[in-house]
Amino acid sequence: MHASPTVYAPAPSGAGVFATRPSARHLLGLEGLSRETLLAILDDAEHDLERLATDRSPTDELRLATVVIAMFEDSTRTRVSFQIAAKRLGATVSTFSSHGLSLSKGETLRDTLRIFEANGADVIVVRHSSPGAPAYLAEQVESAVVNAGDGMHEHPTQGLLDLMTLRQAWGGSFAGRRIAIVGDVSHSRVARSAIFGLTTLGVPVTLAGPATLMPAEIERMQVTVASSVDEAMEGADAVMALRIQRERMEAGLLPSLSEYTRTWGIDAARVRRMKPDAVVLHPGPVNRGVELAPDVADGERSVILDQVANGVAVRCAVLRRSVSAMAREAA
Ligand code: CP
Repeated sequence: MHASPTVYAPAPSGAGVFATRPSARHLLGLEGLSRETLLAILDDAEHDLERLATDRSPTDELRLATVVIAMFEDSTRTRVSFQIAAKRLGATVSTFSSHGLSLSKGETLRDTLRIFEANGADVIVVRHSSPGAPAYLAEQVESAVVNAGDGMHEHPTQGLLDLMTLRQAWGGSFAGRRIAIVGDVSHSRVARSAIFGLTTLGVPVTLAGPATLMPAEIERMQVTVASSVDEAMEGADAVMALRIQRERMEAGLLPSLSEYTRTWGIDAARVRRMKPDAVVLHPGPVNRGVELAPDVADGERSVILDQVANGVAVRCAVLRRSVSAMAREAA
């Protein structure tokens, strides 16, 4: 028996104030996107996934578009899948990391993006360590801006691929399902985007993790907070483990990794607390043996590689949406 978890309401207001003229050309976060918009992107991504399964040749859908991928923070999955997605749609693609750019000579972020724009970028995909950087940049350029992860704020394309993976695992519907999100919620843009998307789609979310790693605004979130990982996972339809960043220990927010693993790590016994068809997600990179036991990460319930595969399809749908919105706004 477990104590009843605490339910908090109403909806979260987000990680801060990001004043932006509303425009479908940008994807800055999942906060505020309607159920219809989320489902339309997921449906579009499913068509891309079906096509990519049988035909890997590029289309000419974005033949006239230029996509610049600007990574001011490290990335493997997001960078590669945006590159592949843009090329699959026939776009001209250019990828940069902050290393090697003239930012090191004192050029501002705004001026850097305006250089990309002057070179003909229609869509600029931005990852940056500062929450709100993509929203700020969307105000400064006419190009479409897609947030590829901004600090602790949001990672909307990760949120979309997580939704896509869950819908597939759940037989095509979110109805009647519940998910546990476990770990460092406070510093996780992945968790924040997932919470916005899932709550909009009516999926109850239960959070579990050390109190020091829960967000300050949790009392305004439409989520349930469990007192243990066992309580959170009991009868759930999925669990999403979040990456633990080792610097949290140095900051005194975690006693030790072994203590974290014992209290909050997801092993096979904890997976058995969920429904028989429940799945295990992780955004990566995984700290094997810390937030996930290796046999869980590689086990039959793991959909981690499905998340990665869905990333290309989601990013195809997002790039297409941005370019279509630009064309509509220009008409
Ligand atoms: N999930 C994710 O954002 O991974 P990368 O940091 O490798 O892009």
